Amino acid sequence: MELKIFKDKNEVAQQFSAYFSELVEGKSVFHVALSGGSTPKIVFDVLADEFSVKIDWSKIHFYWGDERCVPPTDDESNYKMTVEHLFSKIEIPETNIHRILGENNPQEEAKRYGALLEDRLPSQNETPQFDLVILGMGDDGHTASIFPHEIQLWDSDKNCEVAIHPDSGQRRVSITGKIINSAQEVAFLVTGTGKAEKVEVIIEKIDGYEVYPASLVHPDSGNLVWFMDKDAASGLN
Ligand code: 6PG
Repeated sequence: MELKIFKDKNEVAQQFSAYFSELVEGKSVFHVALSGGSTPKIVFDVLADEFSVKIDWSKIHFYWGDERCVPPTDDESNYKMTVEHLFSKIEIPETNIHRILGENNPQEEAKRYGALLEDRLPSQNETPQFDLVILGMGDDGHTASIFPHEIQLWDSDKNCEVAIHPDSGQRRVSITGKIINSAQEVAFLVTGTGKAEKVEVIIEKIDGYEVYPASLVHPDSGNLVWFMDKDAASGLN
């Protein structure tokens, strides 16, 4: 596990974009699962505004680690956020974008998307393998859409599960721990003081850390990198 700590979220965005550009360099095809929420917005803005000429987008296939069960036009949609901050600014073939269909029946979509991953991704030990999975972490220690109150979903033998947000009750389709931990690379993007307590507990393995899904991210053979700003890392020794 590697910790990369920067002064603020803009520097996190700059440094992550350079890391992403280097990962993609020289690859003929690159399969990446994106995270949602708000942290990726500045990262996608930097990727699009400052790295668009450096990156051959045509070889990158975009997927999501999780999606809210809403239409793609809904402000809650991770796909909509990604269009606004990234896809609307770069030349990316539609056929390279594999969104989770939030407008569909959640259970059916979890099944469909899980099968799509089987079809499109290379396999590692009979598990679909992403080149990169980008993750956020909630203030409650959730990641993708695996929440502490449903942490058993992490160990599902399925590729995708339907999760329920603990506060809003919103349903979400999420990839599971087996997909996350089979990835070649996993990168956390975590910024802000609101994350500091869980970052400390999880990274320093303080008693009880195992109740947080983000603590279960341990790629089987791949690399794990935490991109953080000083605020999120403020509890670390
Ligand atoms: C989502 C995300 C989720 C997110 C965390 C952190 O759909 O909301 O995939 O896992 O990464 O909740 O969100 P912020 O980056 O907005 O704090």
